[in-house]
Amino acid sequence: LDKFSLGLETQAQIRFTSTTSAIKAQTENKTAKAAKESKTFQAIQEERREAAERSVLINCPPKINEKKFLDYLSKHGTINKHFFYNSYGANAVVEFSSRESIASLKDSINIPAVEHEAAVPFKSRLLSLKWPGSQSSNHPMPKFKEQSPASISEITQLLSEQDSIDEQLQCLTETLQLTEENISLRFLVCSLLRDIAGAYFPECIIRPFGSSVNSFGKLGCDVDMILDLNGIYATSQKKGSALSLEYQVKRGASERAVTQSILSVIGKCVDQFGPGCVGVQNILQARCPLVRFAHQPTGFQCDLTANNRVAMKSSELLFLYGQLDPRVRHLVFGVRCWARAHSITSSIPGAWITNFSLTLMVVFFLQQRNPPILPTLDQLKELAGPSDKCVIEGNDCTIVSDLSKIALQQNTDTLEKLLQEFFEFYGNFPFNKASINIRKGKEQTKPETTALYIQNPFETTLNISKNVNATQLERFVALSRESAWLLQQKEILKQSSDSPWGFAALLLPSVTSGAGVKSRSKRKLEPASSRIKNLLDSLKIKGGETVAKKGST
Ligand code: CTP
Ligand code: MG
Repeated sequence: LDKFSLGLETQAQIRFTSTTSAIKAQTENKTAKAAKESKTFQAIQEERREAAERSVLINCPPKINEKKFLDYLSKHGTINKHFFYNSYGANAVVEFSSRESIASLKDSINIPAVEHEAAVPFKSRLLSLKWPGSQSSNHPMPKFKEQSPASISEITQLLSEQDSIDEQLQCLTETLQLTEENISLRFLVCSLLRDIAGAYFPECIIRPFGSSVNSFGKLGCDVDMILDLNGIYATSQKKGSALSLEYQVKRGASERAVTQSILSVIGKCVDQFGPGCVGVQNILQARCPLVRFAHQPTGFQCDLTANNRVAMKSSELLFLYGQLDPRVRHLVFGVRCWARAHSITSSIPGAWITNFSLTLMVVFFLQQRNPPILPTLDQLKELAGPSDKCVIEGNDCTIVSDLSKIALQQNTDTLEKLLQEFFEFYGNFPFNKASINIRKGKEQTKPETTALYIQNPFETTLNISKNVNATQLERFVALSRESAWLLQQKEILKQSSDSPWGFAALLLPSVTSGAGVKSRSKRKLEPASSRIKNLLDSLKIKGGETVAKKGST
């Protein structure tokens, strides 16, 4: 054991990986569990953040002896949890029960000598374990936790083994959703980054938002982060002090200019001193200025923003909707997967519909059911207590935080019915004149002529889908109609283990998604007989082979 030595990582040694994953049973999502115990969104986030501060990330030799490894680290204190994962090499996340263990560990580690280069002497919690000599291999290998999403062909295979469309959608959610370990890793990357940003702002916090925390995240999705300088969870400004901090009164030309200057120095710091951070890009001219980089040891693509409290509130809102009824998440995962399979969404920014827009479209659709499955945003505001009051830059972002105050109506629609109706609803939605508004839970007159108008839940003068052009919207409508029609066919429900059926059949390449969608999209829901034939043929003949070729989403 004495031969172990822990050296600080000064450079990322691990390349990116997107290994094909074997599908494993997922651990129960902690967010869902916590909600059952009726913890608020904020309490869940704080708990995870605090655990991340007590954690380290260690790059390990390939044949790691788990027991020896844990024994060695336990010298610094009790270990609460740990897990291993692969990212071009073995890595371990180790969570201690006390922060003092981190200090003790940091005292014992050395900064490695690097040949022909010099190390920046920044003691991070990103470590590497040097293991001298060869190791005997007669000890059990630790279990490595999967961090990448299943490929579309693996998903198709898994779905074909289910017994109904409802089961297929539940299985899809379980397969794609973030695991407990993956969420911990997301909080850990924020915490490691906080240590770097702390060089400038010692009391700052970096918090994940968006799909990492809103319960709709899929393995492999990016980590959206907020640099929180003022304590976004502080209930009110402290009163009664004559002193205020000098840094708060140093003035910039505008709020935006201040945000840009903060992010530009943090971006530089991350680039020069951030272990494992590569490809740092300052994207400061965007509507929401950000620093984008890849964190190699975790394999995450990260977007760091600042002064973005409203986005955290929308994450809370989506989380809340996701907890109210299990059908919400199943439908969102289904629609997002369907959209990705048909290239309605894309990983490249552009005129495409985004996952965030699709989620709000599902919420809006569920508010329109009879009886409604989800309450409107105005109703969530009415249920709020005094401590829920929240106004950000003049926008009233108040929503109830106690889920038990929300009374839901009795609606027993199956997921199959909801999926079918979702496609019919948007296949016939009057996008030319109406906007989608989850605050009112009713369509409103469109205030501008953009193709798709989805009102931002809290910044109500903004359209979250302003980027979407008419062509992309038409593709969405055409594919929705096609999928609605497919779900009406008896053939599609015929279970089969060798060709995709049910929801999996909706992921097959479409005959309308290619060229000429424009004219086709104007057709009624009932397709021409030649199309029926084509579609059924594609279901029967092309089968899994065509889907498999599309590769990973
Ligand atoms: N957001 C917003 N307005 C937009 C785009 C994004 O308010 N026009 C906020 C939302 O709260 C969103 C978050 O920024 O959840 C992150 O944006 P993005 O990464 O695009 O979406 P995610 O919800 O994280 O989904 P994905 O899995 O595609 O990353
Ligand atoms: Mg995101």
